[in-house]
Amino acid sequence: MGIEPTLVAWEATVLPLNYTRSALLWLLWQRNTPTQAQPFLMIEGLPERAIKTFARREGRMTQAQARALEDFGHSVLIDNPLAARFDPLAAFSANAPLHLDIGFGAGESIANSAYLNPDQNYLGLEVHRPGVGQLLLKLDAQKSRNVRVAVVDAVEFLHRSIGSKSLSSVRIFCPDPWPKQRHCKRRLIQDEFIQIVRGALILHGELFLATDWAPYADHMLKVLSRAPGFINRSPTQRFAPRFAERPLTRFENRGLGLGHAVFDLHFARSE
Ligand SMILES: C[S@@+](CC[C@H](N)C(=O)[O-])C[C@H]1O[C@@H](n2cnc3c(N)ncnc32)[C@H](O)[C@@H]1O
Repeated sequence: MGIEPTLVAWEATVLPLNYTRSALLWLLWQRNTPTQAQPFLMIEGLPERAIKTFARREGRMTQAQARALEDFGHSVLIDNPLAARFDPLAAFSANAPLHLDIGFGAGESIANSAYLNPDQNYLGLEVHRPGVGQLLLKLDAQKSRNVRVAVVDAVEFLHRSIGSKSLSSVRIFCPDPWPKQRHCKRRLIQDEFIQIVRGALILHGELFLATDWAPYADHMLKVLSRAPGFINRSPTQRFAPRFAERPLTRFENRGLGLGHAVFDLHFARSE
């Protein structure tokens, strides 16, 4: 199984449409945006997930990453992300569609999207601080001001701090694959988590996933295909063409080097 063969044709026909994509997102967001603050997404009775989806690793922080955290952290990082509901109006200088990148790693995807769409807002969640420092360096270099970052467990943040119907899209690229059978429960993409994501998305809001681990790709497709309130946006109703804004990252490149195929999924909130 590999990437769907229609990729090249799709890029030729759909890529030009990306110029209108931004306008469409605005329209959707305006139709969805409530005039009053939305309630917490906090789902009563949902137990906090004790099993973490990430391995504890601080890793080595370069001097440049540490300096970036010190110099620009105050204008990008969200203080105490679990203490209160995330308020996009207070966090960003412009009221605009909000896109969430979960586990952004070194930040290639979120930085690229923020650069391509300066009229949209981006929120990134990551637990690995050197990666956060790396993203801050990119944002400073490209002078993007439309990104905010929380150094936090995304599962907890979505559970406690995100308003319902507040996100125009969610992106989860190459989440940790947890390849061993006994670790599968640590995977981020699970039925309950996907319903939390659904609650956070506006109606017709989009969910983009990608992985280079074929068994995880099958698992993702199974979970999303049975998830109430989602439709598959892929013309084949299986895997989707590569999301145009998703650049090649170090993680994906490593997978390609190992001979892995890469799978994209594209779903949307339908109800
Ligand atoms: C394999 S890397 C992929 C990074 C990036 N998305 C890419 O495509 O290159 C997965 C990242 O997700 C982060 N991560 C895993 N679980 C997370 C969670 N619950 N909350 C926030 N970040 C998480 C890890 O720290 C790691 O940086």
